[in-house]
Amino acid sequence: MALIKVLEIETVGLKQKFFKSPWLFSNQIIHKSDNELNNDKVSLVQIKGTKKVGVYCKNSLISIRFLPDSLFEKIENGFIKKDQFIDVIFNHLVNLKKAKSKFNFTNKEAFRLSHGDNDGLPAIAIDDYQSVLVLQSSSQAGEYILPYVIDALKQIDERSIFERSTGQIRKLENLPERTRWIREPLNKDQNFEINCLFSSLNMTFFLNKAQKTGLFLDQRNNLTYLANIIKNYNINSCLDICSYAGSWSSIAANSGVENLTLIDQDSWALNLAKRNILANAKGNTTIETLHGDMFEHMQGLIKNEKKFDLIIADPPAFAKSKKHIHEAKRAYSRMAKLASKLLSENGLLIVCSCSRNIKDSEFLESVSLGLEEGNWVFIHKGEQSPCHTHLAHPDSSEYLKCYFLNNRVL
Ligand SMILES: C[S@@+](CC[C@H](N)C(=O)[O-])C[C@H]1O[C@@H](n2cnc3c(N)ncnc32)[C@H](O)[C@@H]1O
Repeated sequence: MALIKVLEIETVGLKQKFFKSPWLFSNQIIHKSDNELNNDKVSLVQIKGTKKVGVYCKNSLISIRFLPDSLFEKIENGFIKKDQFIDVIFNHLVNLKKAKSKFNFTNKEAFRLSHGDNDGLPAIAIDDYQSVLVLQSSSQAGEYILPYVIDALKQIDERSIFERSTGQIRKLENLPERTRWIREPLNKDQNFEINCLFSSLNMTFFLNKAQKTGLFLDQRNNLTYLANIIKNYNINSCLDICSYAGSWSSIAANSGVENLTLIDQDSWALNLAKRNILANAKGNTTIETLHGDMFEHMQGLIKNEKKFDLIIADPPAFAKSKKHIHEAKRAYSRMAKLASKLLSENGLLIVCSCSRNIKDSEFLESVSLGLEEGNWVFIHKGEQSPCHTHLAHPDSSEYLKCYFLNNRVL
């Protein structure tokens, strides 16, 4: 029977409240030079005097990322049986699925099954696209638990499983990119094309060319909100800035908006967006795609005196780390300024930030600084879909901010 060693580790005398966070930082634990923790870069640890078990990464700023509490009961003489570790993860995934089914997503809709640390699976995101599960590991701790997560996932059902472990965060930890089938589809002719239902849209993406796991499922409730209000506004044209696969434009086209302009620096995504829009459109849609930098294209549109009734600006995270906060705030202001110049009177402007390093108040301030003069009315504040678990914790794990604004002319 394979055993996994669990080492004991002490904190610097942390009070109970610190264990509500999904992790502990390097300065919150006692690093001893003469114990086994020093030999392994990554290991399973139990916090002395508590029932908390986690993955310890010696070289990371986040030293310990917590695992489900039920693991504690499985420790015997400093070891956990590998099978029991997999069982705990299996039960955890089953419970996560039950918990997330309470969000009343339309039946058979894509959703995030695991949102990493906030869902008790350090650095492991799993998106359920119905025909396929797509997982992503974004740190050394994720790499450590990945084989066990895969074994547990395989026991849940027969569906195919794909891994897309890519992106900036892996680079920060010197981890190479990895995309592969973990379990191939039963139908060997099935290529990388995935069709799914998302926010009542019929969406397609390709596993081998995607950003993130395939679609930005975190925008779900914000898309639904737009779908619910769009008919109340007089919208004939829409500018979708940083469109990726065209979810926002598809909502507009599905509500009968006929003139769509999309900007993205990813030409593959723009072509995919056209396909998604046409699959959802109700009306004679015309689509213009502008490939390249959002700021340059927005300036070009202003120069050509273009106006749009609906503008969505959903850029990548401008503040990749805390040192980029100042620069990011300026970029959000500039984005809002250019977008507000392009908006028709009484138009709808939706501005988003997925920078976790930018606070909600900082984002709103940057946007309002940028807005051109006018009577700007705040309509709605959206956030990440609840399947992207947001902990009730002061170090807020809210990252997606989405403001709906209207330049009201009465
Ligand atoms: C957060 S994603 C957009 C998600 C999309 N709106 C959705 O709901 O699916 C950001 C997008 O911005 C694009 N992008 C990044 N930098 C850009 C730039 N400077 N100009 C234009 N597009 C950019 C990326 O290719 C990516 O598709």
